[in-house]
Formats: sequence, C-alpha cells, structure tokens
Amino acid sequence: MRAISPEATIGILGGGQLGRMLALDAKRMGYRVAMLDPTPNSPCGQIADQQVVASYGDLAAVQRLGVMCDAVTYEFENVDVRAVELLEGSGVRIAPGSRALRVAQHRLREKRFLRDQDIAVTPFAAVTTADDLTSAGEHVGYPAVIKTAAGGYDGKGQAVVHTRAQALQAFERLRGRELIWERFAPFTRELGIICARSESGQMVTYPLTQNIHEENILAFSVVPAGVPAPVEERAREIAQRIALGLDFVGTFCVEFFLLPDGELLVNEIAPRPHNSGHYTIDACTLSQFEAQLRAICDLPLPAPRLTSSAVMVNILGSGSGDRLLGIPELLSDPAVSLHLYGKRQALARRKMGHFTLLRDPGTPPAQLLQTAREARKRLSWGSASAL
Ligand SMILES: Nc1ncnc2c1ncn2[C@@H]1O[C@H](COP(=O)(O)OP(=O)(O)O)[C@@H](O)[C@H]1O
Ligand SMILES: [Mg+2]
Repeated sequence: MRAISPEATIGILGGGQLGRMLALDAKRMGYRVAMLDPTPNSPCGQIADQQVVASYGDLAAVQRLGVMCDAVTYEFENVDVRAVELLEGSGVRIAPGSRALRVAQHRLREKRFLRDQDIAVTPFAAVTTADDLTSAGEHVGYPAVIKTAAGGYDGKGQAVVHTRAQALQAFERLRGRELIWERFAPFTRELGIICARSESGQMVTYPLTQNIHEENILAFSVVPAGVPAPVEERAREIAQRIALGLDFVGTFCVEFFLLPDGELLVNEIAPRPHNSGHYTIDACTLSQFEAQLRAICDLPLPAPRLTSSAVMVNILGSGSGDRLLGIPELLSDPAVSLHLYGKRQALARRKMGHFTLLRDPGTPPAQLLQTAREARKRLSWGSASAL
C-alpha cells in the first residue's frame, strides 16, 4: 500500500475530542484535516481546515468528505457502517474497514467474534423478547448487566440487575432495542491496552493500564498497571489476535476484566483511540493518535516506549457552571499537563478534558493514584461571576 505523506488531507468522521487530538497530531505533522460532524465548531472542527456539517447518516455528505481526502478514519464507533462501505466502494482509503466496525459497534457480534477466536468473555445471551429475558436469567444467571447491543457509551443504555423484577424493569426501559444479557464479571480490576496496526501489517502494543471507573465512566487510567508480567503478556497477545482476526488498520483498545484467579476476560473492543490511552500523548514516545495516523497512512510504526509512570485523570462537567476553576493550582505541579477539549457547556458527566500526571518510573501505582486524586480536588466548576 502506498504511504500517504504529509500535505495530504486526512478525513475524520466525528467531531469529538478523539478527533480533536488526532487532528492536533496530524496538523503538527503537516497534514491537512477535513472532518464531518452535525455540530459546527465541534472540538475537532475547531482544529480542522475544513468542516462538513452534516449528520453521520448523510451519505451524500460523507461522499463529499471522501472526495476532499486522501485517507479517512472515524473517531467513534457509532458511525453508520453504510458510510464506511460507501467510501470503500468509491475507492477512498478508509480505515478501520467496515468489517472491523461492524463487529466492534455491536456487542453481540463482538462477543461472538471473540468467542470464535477462543478469547474468553463473560457468559452472555441475546435478548429481544420477554421469553429471551426469562431464558437468559435461567441459563446465564444473576447478577447481570443488561445492555443495548448497539449505540451505548460511557455506561449509557445499561442496567445492573440482581433479581427478575429488576431485569423486567430494565427490559421495559430498554424495550424495542436489541439487548445483550451479560453475566456480571466479579473483577478485581479493569485493564486496558492500546494496539495499532498499519496498512502493511506492522503492529505495536502499548503498556497495559489499570482503568478506574466512577458511575460507569472512566475516571483514572494508571500506567504501569501494576499487574504481574504474565497478565500483561497475555493481554498483549489477545490484542494482537484481535487485530489479526479483524484485519484491523488503525488504533484500537481492548478493555479487560481481571478475575480473582488471574483470568482475563475481554469486556469490549473500541475500534479507535480510547480515553484510557490519552496518557500516551505525554508519557510515550508515540501517542495513540499519531499511531492511528501512521497506521492509516502506512508510515512506519516504531514500538512505543513509556517514558514515565503516569495517571490520566478525566475532567467531567458537573452541571454547576461552565468555567473550570483551580487551573493555576493544578498546574503548580510541573509534571501535570492539561488537555481541554474546547466544549462550551460543562453538562453533568460530560467529558470536558483530562490531565496527565507524570511521575518517575517505579512509583508504586497506589501512590500514583493517591496523588492524582489529590490533584483532581483542586479543580471545580463555577460560573464566570464566581471569579
Ligand atoms: N459484564 C460486566 N460485569 C461487570 N461490570 C461490567 C460489565 N459490563 C460493564 N461493566 C461495567 O460498566 C462499565 C461500562 O461498560 P462497557 O461495556 O465498557 O460500556 P461502555 O461502552 O459504556 O464503555 C465497564 O467498564 C464496567 O465497569
Ligand atoms: Mg467500555
């Protein structure tokens, strides 16, 4: 495959922070960026050279984007597969391809794919009817997480259920959507790994992170994860198998549950850079975004090296004001780097930015996390008049 050099135009479907950070790396390297999102001046749109303002399902607009670009990628998995197929059919280089997207955007297809690859997942069943629900309760069992098969993110479209009454309630709420019943995994930790693979098959994996969620949204990613080396080795090997099984081109993330006996279950695959990989911008020799860019442009992908221990801390909106307070206090630590996504409204639970806190290699993960929790307390939201 021909390498695509800077000065070419990279297209991004989606205008969120992942697209923004990809665009920032692309611009640094001399590429032009065109993007498509329904909202003008989105986080990515603010950085891009050209914005196509249209819905993701607007295939004519997707085609217009394709015509502007030498290569196209996407920054979230809820893009319409037909849009990706359309670009594939019209000879535009688009990666990851429609096959990988089709699998990764649908929890049932994803779990079946993993099972077929002999990769362990939590027991699950498809649920569409009330009878399916009863059968899943009997055969897969409680406690369980009922999720929409498609369209969920950041814990949206999910319910944890312990009893049949709760299951029925969740079923009523999510009714009409294709659902998956997953046995609740009694994990001791959640882990994540970023992997990138290029058009010509060069593949790299990043260090494993420990991911800590609050109310089903990622709060902290700590690296190194502080797990035994064989666990990290297995995670790497699983990620590589997934990359090959999907013939994946680009950057992706595998989320894992670590069970008390040391077994790893795959929770899900994100077919794009991932929130838990933001630490790579400040703590690795190659960011997950530059890796994505190099992968789709078929440029060399050198093995990324961790240059310090790190914690990535998400900054979520609280709904109590749009102005982030405490930035000078946060930045009084010279090893903190701040990333804000250019979103105006700090709605509750909205991902507004993150910061990465760097420490010397060898700092114990528990200490890293403690320092990060303290640092996060310096930030709060207020209104402009509160200043
Ligand atoms: N089967 C499960 N067992 C235990 N916890 C789960 C399970 N599924 C999801 N969770 C919890 O909910 C979080 C979000 O679920 P996930 O499937 O990763 O969806 P999302 O697309 O919202 O990230 C997970 O990181 C985990 O903390
Ligand atoms: Mg997840």
